[in-house]
Amino acid sequence: MNTSISSKLLKNGSYINGQWQTSSAEKIDIINPATNQLICEVHDANADDTLKAVDAAAKAMPRWKSKTAKERAGILQRWFDLIMSHQDELAAILTAEQGKPLAEAKGEIAYGASYIQWFAEEARRIYGDVIPHANSNSRVIVIKQPIGVVAAITPWNFPNAMITRKAAPAIAAGCTFIVKAAAETPLSALAIAELAHQAGIPAGVFNVVIGSDAPSIGKVLTQDPRVAKFSFTGSTPVGKTLLAQCATTVKKASMELGGNAPFIVFDDADIDEAIKGLLISKYRNAGQTCVCANRILIQNGIYDEFSKRLVDAVAQFRMGDGSKDGIDIGPLITAKATQKVKDLVDDALAQGATSLHGDTNNPIDGQFYTPTILTNVTPSMAIASNEIFGPVAPLIKFDTEQEAIDIANDTNSGLASYMYTRDIGRVWRVSEALEYGMVGINEGIVSNEAAPFGGIKESGIGREGSKYGIEDYVEIKYLCMGGIDK
Ligand code: SIN
Repeated sequence: MNTSISSKLLKNGSYINGQWQTSSAEKIDIINPATNQLICEVHDANADDTLKAVDAAAKAMPRWKSKTAKERAGILQRWFDLIMSHQDELAAILTAEQGKPLAEAKGEIAYGASYIQWFAEEARRIYGDVIPHANSNSRVIVIKQPIGVVAAITPWNFPNAMITRKAAPAIAAGCTFIVKAAAETPLSALAIAELAHQAGIPAGVFNVVIGSDAPSIGKVLTQDPRVAKFSFTGSTPVGKTLLAQCATTVKKASMELGGNAPFIVFDDADIDEAIKGLLISKYRNAGQTCVCANRILIQNGIYDEFSKRLVDAVAQFRMGDGSKDGIDIGPLITAKATQKVKDLVDDALAQGATSLHGDTNNPIDGQFYTPTILTNVTPSMAIASNEIFGPVAPLIKFDTEQEAIDIANDTNSGLASYMYTRDIGRVWRVSEALEYGMVGINEGIVSNEAAPFGGIKESGIGREGSKYGIEDYVEIKYLCMGGIDK
């Protein structure tokens, strides 16, 4: 390996059936997006390797599901402990391959691990039901059983947490699991596979496939009849393709897809709190999250003051290599992603928006994009209907509550939304009117392990985290028991 990171957790091949796969002649270059330097090469797995992972997961299923919930919980708890005791090492790997600042990477490791701990606890609470039957001679009993082999495809923006959020409930419920982690950021996935191994997760129960041929690997994971459930986090267009593929074997599928989050600030809001919430919601991970504020709707009475204070706050950000001290904003993941952000900003400027912060010439310094604030944005501009996935805040002025709701809902997306107001009646009215799976009320972060993360409309199907998150990994079986009357 040609790398500046030294860690025993650095692995260079897929983890299938408890073995590291390092025989492929093809390699994937793993590039640090801050420096454009090669971190290392990882063996490129293909569709045949993916089939081997499905074989292993199917073979491991009977033994894993027959373990008691208490045994599964204990193993998951060990995995959690190992991840947390390697938090700094895992964060350094994550920052190197993904670019987010080290403090944020550490936060992601803890966030990802929190799902493991949560579902270790939840494993023991997969309760059934006894329901009174219509006849006195019978009873209705509902039991919940692990659905079977689970396959997942996860993105590069959260190389750790998007895996644990799916793997932990699957493994807790008694399922076996295969993830195709993003080829841009495989090292975090492989590092937690090593810790899964050390925690005693048996061979075949947790498998990681790293490969550049996403369509072929995706076809195996979505079409093999032995895979009972498929879970995806990524873009809406790719999600639609994968969902159609899942239909060929009528697989249960959950999708966590793109967002277009409105961030609504009413005249009566606490402006300091709203700015604080917006900075985290908009600029976390350099704007590369599905729940990032995408359209900032500000009521006209506070528009000028809010804009000014936002500029002052954003001017404090320091952009640079996330492994260095004091950095708030890292690079974007690829040159292509950076160009897309630039194109959206250029288009908005050409349509009449003006820049309050950020260079209007939009120079691209490697993959770094200056945190930008645009004013005079209108809902019809491309920047208001596309997921920006970059550190750009487009400000849109509105007059009435109804106008804000109408603008917010005028999209096919429905993942996260945010509002800042002190009016309790408005909190209820607007929360109920927003067509979104999640509403942050005076909160810029909605993500945590106790909450049912997920979207409606074209933003997805299913929930991750919370007591609801386990439901996607179990199958309901109904037992009709008769012969009770004498
Ligand atoms: C995502 O961007 O897909 C997930 C964001 C989060 O979990 O907060």
